[in-house]
Amino acid sequence: MPVHEITHPLVKHKLGILRQQSLSTRSFRQVTAELAALLTYEATSDLALEDYQVQTWAGPAPAQRIKGKKVTVVPILRAGIGMLDGVLELIPSARVSVVGVYRNEETLQPVAYFEKLAHGLNERLALVVDPMLATGGSMLATIEMLKKAGCKQIRALVLVAAPEGVRRVEQEHPDVTIYTAGVDQGLNEDGYIVPGLGDAGDKIFGTK
Ligand code: PRP
Ligand code: URA
Repeated sequence: MPVHEITHPLVKHKLGILRQQSLSTRSFRQVTAELAALLTYEATSDLALEDYQVQTWAGPAPAQRIKGKKVTVVPILRAGIGMLDGVLELIPSARVSVVGVYRNEETLQPVAYFEKLAHGLNERLALVVDPMLATGGSMLATIEMLKKAGCKQIRALVLVAAPEGVRRVEQEHPDVTIYTAGVDQGLNEDGYIVPGLGDAGDKIFGTK
């Protein structure tokens, strides 16, 4: 199941708020972080656990903890930064691997310009975060970067996805599951998702 559209009422409610044209920069950031946390909750629901013993006030008791090396969160600059705090709220010890990719506004092709990845990626689950999956170019470039660095487990968390981008990720990386608050109608002639959110980076950073 490479695309997992979250139908939880809180997610749908918050997505509706985020689409409002008149939403302030502050509220856009806030709701983006809240949605990122809810997507994280879904995307981590099957993580493996291991048993251990915890010392409680009443003596030792059985407990469980997440097994293996710590997760790495991979925000795609710049808009992905808007989702980072929401993810870290649920996984505060996650390692952060920052990737810089923008898409050329004319050709819509991804341009990779920055990469600072966590160590031991071959043993970590990577949660790639970006509000928008449009043509899929930026996500594919990031997945390829992570795989080249040895990462074997990748999940993509996007607020809104276009069917075109979902298809490309499914075709080229069927091992990567996409978690999204909504799969929208499609792309317009400028490569923007309709109805989408507009330019998510500009909204998060208040640059328009
Ligand atoms: C946006 C968005 C994604 C990308 C999606 O970033 O945040 O990274 O476009 O488009 P794609 O699926 O067609 O590649 P943008 O290039 O506008 O950069 P920004 O985050 O710096 O604003
Ligand atoms: N990037 C955005 O910010 N929005 C879109 O709709 C597509 C790419």
